[in-house]
Amino acid sequence: MRKTIIAGNWKMYKNIAEAIELANGIKRELFNLGDERIDTVLCPPFTALRDVSEVISESNILLGAQDVYWEEEGAFTGEVSPGMLKDTGCSFIIIGHSERRQHFSETNTTVNKKLKAVLRNGLTPIVCIGETLSQREEDKTFQVLEDHVLNGLDGILEEEASKIIIAYEPVWAIGTGKTATPQEAQSAHAYIRGLLKKMFNTDISESIRIQYGGSVKPDNIVELMKQRDIDGALVGGASLKIESFSQIVKKACEVSK
Ligand code: 13P
Repeated sequence: MRKTIIAGNWKMYKNIAEAIELANGIKRELFNLGDERIDTVLCPPFTALRDVSEVISESNILLGAQDVYWEEEGAFTGEVSPGMLKDTGCSFIIIGHSERRQHFSETNTTVNKKLKAVLRNGLTPIVCIGETLSQREEDKTFQVLEDHVLNGLDGILEEEASKIIIAYEPVWAIGTGKTATPQEAQSAHAYIRGLLKKMFNTDISESIRIQYGGSVKPDNIVELMKQRDIDGALVGGASLKIESFSQIVKKACEVSK
């Protein structure tokens, strides 16, 4: 019912030549994988978007960016607009990744502005939410999720809501090798879906895809994907290698609901 989506967030890795090589390798590995059951998205750094776009143009693989600014154009040195990203071939945009919240002062307010700009431009947002280790230890996980969802998605209309993808990424599981157990992830995802139901309605909350992110690898993707409310993954480290990323996509496709 909800199409599986596996996205690779390459973060600040890969120069242009390396990005082309990685994208080519993934395309080769996944060439006979149809797009009926799964969306596969590559999110290289801005500098490699155009080249990766060309590599994947004759495939089912889709392109995403890791961030965006909310204005259409103007004197905003260093920023990139949704229209510019669309121009490179992007159809997905990651918003509010915890690394941006942590190192670049992103807040729910900036996430909300970016989200609206992305939707206005007909692109698909991947909104990242999730608690830190100390918040989890203080039993504040659900409180943080509520804050991120309610404020990040504030003012979103019902007709736009089902286009949004949420990525639940517990900060303590990112790049640490420490994945949330499938049960821990499922419990957070179910809570998020409950929040979406309260904000919108049952149909919309059941249609919104929720990805899990945080140390996803070929050997844990299947158990994660078997959970009712996990609809895919946002993959960091394991998306930087042809073999591990392709394995994750293939395995997720096998268990897709
Ligand atoms: P890792 O898969 O390296 O833990 O990173 C997850 C992530 O931040 C994806 O956005």
